[in-house]
Amino acid sequence: MKRAKITIVGAGNVGGSTAQRLVAGAVGDVVLIDIDEGLARGKALDLAEAAPLYHSDCRVTGGGDYAATAQSDVVVITSGSPRKPGMSRDDLLKINTGIVRQVTEQVARHSPQAVLIVVSNPLDAMTYVAHRVSNFPPERVMGMAGVLDAARFKAFLAEALSVSVDHIETLVLGGHGDTMVPLTRSTTVGGVPVEALLPEARLDAIVQRVRDGGAEIVNLLKTGSAYFAPSASVVEMVRAVVRDEHALLPCAAYCRGEYGAQNLFVGVPAVLGSRGVERIVSMELTARERAAFQKSVDAVQELCRLIDRLL
Ligand code: LAC
Repeated sequence: MKRAKITIVGAGNVGGSTAQRLVAGAVGDVVLIDIDEGLARGKALDLAEAAPLYHSDCRVTGGGDYAATAQSDVVVITSGSPRKPGMSRDDLLKINTGIVRQVTEQVARHSPQAVLIVVSNPLDAMTYVAHRVSNFPPERVMGMAGVLDAARFKAFLAEALSVSVDHIETLVLGGHGDTMVPLTRSTTVGGVPVEALLPEARLDAIVQRVRDGGAEIVNLLKTGSAYFAPSASVVEMVRAVVRDEHALLPCAAYCRGEYGAQNLFVGVPAVLGSRGVERIVSMELTARERAAFQKSVDAVQELCRLIDRLL
């Protein structure tokens, strides 16, 4: 079987860790691209030398020239300036719009059939930039956030309840920002609703910690942001695409009225397969959830309006 070709743009911590997981898990051949060509080449070479220890025949190369990325099946865009302590994801809007625009132009030229997975922040808005610049069908453009936010939710719940992370199912909707909507109603532990297992105040505190999850790590690291959980989340999505898994994962997908969101990318449950987003799964929200989701959509919408002026 032909191995998938996966390009990762940005050889920083998220890009490098994603490459490592893809090679170690034999998900596909990897091309690592960065404006710092030496960084991309160095990390790729290091990883190529690790491949025998992973018992992986996946090839990995790195550099600065997009010609090497030609005909990729999936392109992961991680480039951008990370947050500094005290900065919100939205502060990054202007600088990262420029970066994601440049990257997407190159990517679209060399891999016109690829599925794009955007990781740069502010996430939902940068996914919109990649879509506008690439002009790809919206189904082939998506943003990684819900998988990460749900993983954080699971980690905190597993700790609070002393249960295995494997037995927790949860869903996080909305933008990847302060307005994200972790759905406690859809969260279960071995089929038992979490609302029956934890008092409301405790659950509210965990939900808030999920919302602040990225910032909590930025404040601890002081330089840079999280990368272990983000890269693991990207790999879930890449795998769903290259193996045509039809996996139901929360991600920033293009909405045409689903959940009341119109013509923008925002976190919703989506079925991912080789064509990208195969469909968005809709469900009824309570009045409170609907209001919280709408607030999140409004925040994303505002950023998209600013981007329309920047592009
Ligand atoms: C985070 C960044 C990647 O949530 O947005 O950690």
